Amino acid sequence: MRSLVAGNWKMNGLSASLAELDKLKGMLAAKAPSCEVLVCPPFTLIAQAATAVKGAFPLGGQDCHAKASGAFTGDISAEMLKDAGASYVIVGHSERRQYHAESNRDVAAKAEAAWRAGLTAIICIGETEGQRSAGDHNQTCSDQIDGSVPMAATAANTVIAYEPVWAIGTGKTATADDIKAMHAHLRACLVRRLGEGARQMRILYGGSVKADNAAQILNLAEVNGALVGGASLKAEEFHRIVQGVNAA
Ligand code: PGA
Repeated sequence: MRSLVAGNWKMNGLSASLAELDKLKGMLAAKAPSCEVLVCPPFTLIAQAATAVKGAFPLGGQDCHAKASGAFTGDISAEMLKDAGASYVIVGHSERRQYHAESNRDVAAKAEAAWRAGLTAIICIGETEGQRSAGDHNQTCSDQIDGSVPMAATAANTVIAYEPVWAIGTGKTATADDIKAMHAHLRACLVRRLGEGARQMRILYGGSVKADNAAQILNLAEVNGALVGGASLKAEEFHRIVQGVNAA
């Protein structure tokens, strides 16, 4: 299985930021990475980014609507992302679940929309600090898998991202033991739900992954890559994270 290091720019980036993608492209050309690299800029930059990177690495959206088109002011469909040059889309990020009240059912519908448009879905799950301190993290995450990952999910059309909510943007990361335990738990949930094929489905870790902790996290058992927020905005730091795959 080839690991995936994905950058999630969130609501950051103006056209000047395309220079970072250009830089990243140059760095990846100088030394082929030992993983797949993906950047998910804001919607407004995807088409320009596609022109700038010229297929050197794939691009993704950060959310999509479940429908292909219609009277949904302000929303973006998976088909629109595909048309703009994306090949992935993040769905169910905790910031969408929290600030836009997205339910597991909404997230599952968005994953199906991604597939309909020919995109790979990155389905995000993760427990809050309260759920972890109450000891409910395993149950919370397996419920999210059951509710947000449609039965038609395969290793080819879906990536799972485990992001403990308390680790996102906080500088806190889960311990290596906690990450290993959760990824093993998620693998078992996926195999139980989807069958043996789910052993090949990538499970990314996300939440305050930086250049200086990436190698340690990326080389843990059942960690098949990372979803990186803040540290993906600068090409140099993001590239150092990419280099962390197979480096420990
Ligand atoms: P962070 O965000 O790396 O800034 O913590 C990760 C994410 O939310 O995908």
